[in-house]
Amino acid sequence: MSEAALGGRFTFPGTSLTVQRIGYGAMQLAGPGVWGPPKDAEGAVAVLRAAVAAGVNHIDTADYYGPHRTNQIIRQALHPYPPGLVIVTKLGGRRPPDKSWQPAISPQDLTDGVHDNLRNLSLDALDIVNYRVMGSGHGPEEASIAGQVTVLADLQRKGLIRHIGLSNVTPAQLTEARTIADIVCVQNNYNLAHRHDDALIDALLHEGIAYVPFFPLGGFTPLQSSTLTSVAAQLATTPMQVALAWLLARSPNILLIPGTSSLTHLRENLAAAHLTLPPQTLAQLDRIAHAATQAKH
Ligand SMILES: NC(=O)c1ccc[n+]([C@@H]2O[C@H](COP(=O)([O-])OP(=O)(O)OC[C@H]3O[C@@H](n4cnc5c(N)ncnc54)[C@H](OP(=O)(O)O)[C@@H]3O)[C@@H](O)[C@H]2O)c1
Repeated sequence: MSEAALGGRFTFPGTSLTVQRIGYGAMQLAGPGVWGPPKDAEGAVAVLRAAVAAGVNHIDTADYYGPHRTNQIIRQALHPYPPGLVIVTKLGGRRPPDKSWQPAISPQDLTDGVHDNLRNLSLDALDIVNYRVMGSGHGPEEASIAGQVTVLADLQRKGLIRHIGLSNVTPAQLTEARTIADIVCVQNNYNLAHRHDDALIDALLHEGIAYVPFFPLGGFTPLQSSTLTSVAAQLATTPMQVALAWLLARSPNILLIPGTSSLTHLRENLAAAHLTLPPQTLAQLDRIAHAATQAKH
């Protein structure tokens, strides 16, 4: 695989873990609403195998996707794992039988979550665990996370977690966490139209910390924008490829984990690495976020 094939490589700070910048987010592999088995179990396995065959070595997951199902599909498709595959999981949530998303943040919850991931992925240690702050939605809220990060740091000392990341956090929460543990990545909601974290991304670049946007394609409904559509038409590509290529161009510490249950979409997303956006196109795309902000006011 050439250096640039999947957007180039990135090494998580202070680690020996190097990944291609285009990875894969596994959340779409569970059933509807991220609950239960996939509609197409063989298709889910095929998507994971195709991603790894194409050079993807960064997979994002959570044991509460499914719950348990997504990790079990990853194990079924890829275990024994190829050398160099980095599986990043997250703790902090749980899915009760009503299918809601609830916090699971006590020391016992977090410890149980690590063991659920280890069991369902068939691993002895987890490469990277993000502490995902469950607020009222997909935006962070200020509150101390020191207690939870301390538990993760203890699990790291016990050898069950190799490295720690954060998800759905504010800059203040990141600063607080870094007094307790080394943080190798931040996973927050960010895309062309939702750029609340612009300053945070720049600050993390300075520290060599990865920024991994969730909802890189705008969430469950594809990003809608006439600018995006017309840019894609001008470049003879698709709006999703433009959205991903824009993220790759935005900052070298951005790692992509687009989610898909479709082989066709997977191939399309990986091919975004070959799309170079000219400066005037980048400027045009920057105006999408401005328009989205104006529309909210
Ligand atoms: N930390 C967190 O709180 C958090 C929250 C959400 C997600 N995540 C992680 O981030 C990853 C990415 O987020 P996401 O999967 O929710 O959102 P996303 O990657 O922004 O978008 C996924 C959606 O776009 C569709 N899609 C994917 N590629 C496409 C293409 N080329 N053309 C048209 N549609 C396409 C998918 O449907 P198809 O299956 O039909 O392709 C799916 O509906 C997840 O898999 C998960 O690992 C983390």
